[in-house]
Amino acid sequence: MTQKVRLAIIGAGAVSDFHHVPGIQYHPQAELVAVCDPNEVLLAQRQKDWGPTKQTTNYEEIAADPEIDAVIIATPNFTHKPIALACIAAGKHVMCEKPLGLNFAESAEMYRAAKEKSVRHMTAFTYRFAPSMRYLQHLLRTGALGQPRHFRSQRFLDLPETSWSWRQIKKLAGAGDLFDMTIHRIDFAQNLLGPITEVCGAVAQFAKRDTTADGQPCPPSEVDDWSALIGRFENGAVGVWEGSTLMKGHHNNGVGFEWAEINGSEGSAVYQLVEPNSILIGKHGGSMEKQVVPPEFLKPASSLRDPSEGLPSTVFRYDLVYEFVSAIVEQRDAVPGFDDGACAQAVADAVLDSYEQKKWMTIDAKM
Ligand SMILES: NC(=O)c1ccc[n+]([C@@H]2O[C@H](COP(=O)([O-])OP(=O)(O)OC[C@H]3O[C@@H](n4cnc5c(N)ncnc54)[C@H](O)[C@@H]3O)[C@@H](O)[C@H]2O)c1
Repeated sequence: MTQKVRLAIIGAGAVSDFHHVPGIQYHPQAELVAVCDPNEVLLAQRQKDWGPTKQTTNYEEIAADPEIDAVIIATPNFTHKPIALACIAAGKHVMCEKPLGLNFAESAEMYRAAKEKSVRHMTAFTYRFAPSMRYLQHLLRTGALGQPRHFRSQRFLDLPETSWSWRQIKKLAGAGDLFDMTIHRIDFAQNLLGPITEVCGAVAQFAKRDTTADGQPCPPSEVDDWSALIGRFENGAVGVWEGSTLMKGHHNNGVGFEWAEINGSEGSAVYQLVEPNSILIGKHGGSMEKQVVPPEFLKPASSLRDPSEGLPSTVFRYDLVYEFVSAIVEQRDAVPGFDDGACAQAVADAVLDSYEQKKWMTIDAKM
């Protein structure tokens, strides 16, 4: 396939502007041809920010447009399923933001629809693309750490305690920190170590968020702002995860704090979001030492992106679009797919069930 992949953005908000649209320029065959958002003021602004394209307030027009090949869905969580199903039914390839649906059943339905229609499907699990995460995967697969035993993840943000808009309404978001942040860490843990088979989890809410950023009263948050789980993997390893948006002192210019560690029978390695182009590695009897990630892990081989440019904790995010468009061009599955989105969601759902029922849950991610 040598012609352009004509992309539409559905949902022109923060994440589209942060990395989906900037990512398009790094694939020579990717082209932004349409933008959809019900907010007309934002739509007009995006014509200035992103350049002129077709524009519409109705995603069904995008689905029906024969001059669009693929869509990137970056809308509030409750809209992912109807938008994805409409676009898939019309034969579009779909990258959709996480959480893929509001629960495992929705996500599995989206996966089955994409598979039946033979379109490319991808879940936007951003952190899989961080250079040190890609290198960590290589270290595990080549046995450099020995048999993996422990996984540990901490993701802390220091966000304001004002309204989170749609993100704090349960029927629109599904859950809070758990579906917003921890679900990424569930995904990369399963990518590194294989399926999680059972979990014991908890969530908590500390901030009421009953005021908007400009001081107006609003309905209080219905979702968690802290989530945690312990889990067992099918391969025998065990994991511990904690995430929060209220970790004072961890603002760090909005990047926050992130640490993910694997301890194997031969050695340990650590990915950190704040320094994604290096990794901490330690061997039995030694100390954890910083190593530079080898160049082949800094970006996909043929991406036009120069990894020495831009903020390291931001620029790897552009590789999501590169993977999606490459999969379309090369007529292969995109990674991570909707199946990965659904598997992560099965675990996240089980965290809520575990907390509610006060017991360990067995994961059932049959699609
Ligand atoms: N992968 C990541 O790292 C990452 C980061 C941030 C957000 N996200 C996810 O991306 C999604 C969007 O988050 P955001 O922070 O950009 O939110 P946002 O509120 O900034 O933007 C969402 C946009 O979608 C628009 N929208 C609402 N309904 C729509 C519809 N029916 N059709 C088209 N557009 C519609 C809204 O008007 C808004 O402009 C969420 O699912 C979120 O979980 C992922």
